[in-house]
Amino acid sequence: MRIPDYTKKGAPSSVGRASLWFRMGATMQNIVILISGRGSNFEAILRTSREEHWETACGARIAAVISNRPLAAGLDIARSAGIDAVAMDHKAYPTREAFEAQLAEEIRRYDPAVIVLAGFMRVLTEGFVKQFEGKILNIHPALLPLFPGLDTHQRAIDAGCRVHGSTVHFVTPVLDGGAIIGQAVVPVLPSDDADTLAHRGLVYEHQLYPKCVRAVVEGRVKAEDGRAVMDDETARSLTIFGA
Ligand code: GRF
Repeated sequence: MRIPDYTKKGAPSSVGRASLWFRMGATMQNIVILISGRGSNFEAILRTSREEHWETACGARIAAVISNRPLAAGLDIARSAGIDAVAMDHKAYPTREAFEAQLAEEIRRYDPAVIVLAGFMRVLTEGFVKQFEGKILNIHPALLPLFPGLDTHQRAIDAGCRVHGSTVHFVTPVLDGGAIIGQAVVPVLPSDDADTLAHRGLVYEHQLYPKCVRAVVEGRVKAEDGRAVMDDETARSLTIFGA
């Protein structure tokens, strides 16, 4: 996956564009992304944010990427893109709460409008989630409320599903249980195994997640009383039917 190089001649200057945004009197909305591994969803959000010039189009930028695994490939992607890359090894903390306390402190440094979980493989406690509720998004590789938890692709195949997919949702203390923002649907083929199905779904995750993040940043989707509230046009744009 290629990240556009905006340092090249003729490309828009993000610095100039950002200052234009600030001259308009608005504050930049920070996005903080949490990962644990390869970071392909983070990379898709980064690429889209640059192609669509989010800094000027909606006053938002990816401010930091934080990983609980120091060797996560996604951290290298962040470094090469000039984004703060923070490694916080959860194994270095005596308890889950101690790790989360440090994580919350690190996140707060960026005063984020949105916190994006993109393949972040740590369950977050109720205490942590409550501090940022309504601001945390996650992508889950299943059509929730079907198949919360792990091994979603194999479970969809075993259940004989004809469709499978991915869901972006607000994070609540209930695992994979928050209000649904958007979904991408793909067919389950007779020849599929868990890997081929996961790969088909991932292609559409990379379309879905950037659209959902932008819609939340722009205030077109809000968490209200356990629902993701949006208008019909937004809902259509956050529903993807893959092949
Ligand atoms: C994706 O399949 C996503 O649905 C799940 O974890 C995976 C993350 O992949 N939550 P990547 O690190 O974004 O490539």
